[in-house]
Amino acid sequence: MGDIAIPCFVFAKILHKNPAVIASDLKNGLEQKKEELGLDEVICVGGYCNLFVNRKLFVENTLTKAADGNHGVEKIGEKKTVCMDYSSPNIAKNFHVGHLRTTVIGNSLYKIYDKLGYNVVRINHLGDWGTQFGKLIVAYKKWSSKEAVEKNGIQELLDIYVKFNNEKEEHPELMDEARSWFVAMEHGDEEALSIWEWFKDISMVEFERVYDMLGISFDSYTGESFYREKVPALVELLKEKNLLIESQGANVIDLSEYDMAPCMITKKDGSSIYHSRDIAAVLYRKEKYDFDKCLYVTGLEQSLHFKQVFKAIELMGLDYYKDLVHVPYGLVSLDGEKFSTRTGNIIYAEDILNEAVKRAYELIEEKNPSLENKGEIAKKVGIGAVIFHDLFNQRIKNINFSWKEVLSFDGTTGPYVQYTYARAKSVLRKYGKELQCTLTDCQALTDDISFALIKTIGGYEKAVNVAAESYEPSIVARYLISLCTDFNKFYQECPILKEENVKTKEARLYLVYVTSQIVFECCGLLGIECPEEM
Ligand code: ARG
Repeated sequence: MGDIAIPCFVFAKILHKNPAVIASDLKNGLEQKKEELGLDEVICVGGYCNLFVNRKLFVENTLTKAADGNHGVEKIGEKKTVCMDYSSPNIAKNFHVGHLRTTVIGNSLYKIYDKLGYNVVRINHLGDWGTQFGKLIVAYKKWSSKEAVEKNGIQELLDIYVKFNNEKEEHPELMDEARSWFVAMEHGDEEALSIWEWFKDISMVEFERVYDMLGISFDSYTGESFYREKVPALVELLKEKNLLIESQGANVIDLSEYDMAPCMITKKDGSSIYHSRDIAAVLYRKEKYDFDKCLYVTGLEQSLHFKQVFKAIELMGLDYYKDLVHVPYGLVSLDGEKFSTRTGNIIYAEDILNEAVKRAYELIEEKNPSLENKGEIAKKVGIGAVIFHDLFNQRIKNINFSWKEVLSFDGTTGPYVQYTYARAKSVLRKYGKELQCTLTDCQALTDDISFALIKTIGGYEKAVNVAAESYEPSIVARYLISLCTDFNKFYQECPILKEENVKTKEARLYLVYVTSQIVFECCGLLGIECPEEM
């Protein structure tokens, strides 16, 4: 019932007292410090002790804090470095909806940690090495051409890759060819490497298009190929530490004691693999960035992989294994929705984003045809809608994608949030004057509805901190929805521009202003742009 409720049941066991007695003792103690604590009233109901804050004081404090440079968020991360490994698509493969999730979640975590003052290194650990490139080279030489690849981009590479996999059933000798091309790559063969490099460039052009649309960039693109050369030294180190054993010609770390499959370090032919390249990457990042934490935003299905990698680091005696965190996420499905994709059931991130922009344009055309810059706004709305939908859902949950839900203007959506922002900005524009009022007039904001909004504003800092601690952008997204809901209620119930008392009017406008800033901030933390008009 109170602004703050203290349930005293939890103390009962410790103090061996009845919760109601504890609540009343608490009340007696608090009553004496009421003023100091900024409380108006303390009321006990059963085992609860309810505190009512002094609204005027609370409003003043909260709005002062919210209007400062960092909106009340403390820079607790200063001088600390966090490496974030996210997006990390695979060269010559499509950038699919799964990669969209890691990209969007990773980007939001970057913004959140950055807000808290951390030094964040954004790493795109490209999947640019592995046997599949041997297959691709064979397929390219047999069934494709320079012109075809230049014309069709990744699609061509995907098509010939699929063809290779079909053909190899009947012609197993293709696999030997592929393997020897990959071995050639590992040994620095010029021809092999130049084809691979070219495939990489072709892929990057397509990935960059998606990153551009999302407004995302990275500090490092050192992917798997970068670490292949570091694996021989890793092998030596593991040998020194007596951690390597041979198993059917391969080098592995035995993890049976920890109920895990062995962690492979090199294959029979001596080549590196995903695991060893990741272990080498941990050592490299520690050395280069001296991280306090290193996060990996990848699908849940890679949990075992990261457990193995982290365990290997622990067994090597490196205590920073504790700072390695897998941040997994669930699957995206599109049930029941028609979706035109370029190849069967693979869903391209780029297609989703383009489609969202197109649909947003149609919606704007319908709702607000006279709006200027419809194209630009549709981009922000469409892409923002996809991002918001992804981040509103808890990271670990599987999500279902439905256009109706994603682009709706009411409910828990991106357009709803952006619309709220545009509405607030429009009120301020209509007023058109510098606000004279400040916090001395905040008595006018102590009514229940304004106060509810201000309490939510006061929760901003906590939302950012909890989101960071739990690697969960959905906390910010959900906070943002409550902020918008409270604001819209305030907007509906409390006259703003029509208010006759100038002080009250300005105080309300000030609240509109502060709210719009926090909405803008939260959108920024999610990686969403806010149009000024919509
Ligand atoms: N390329 C991988 C994939 O597409 C993700 C890589 C994640 N990062 C890492 N360091 N293993 O699934």
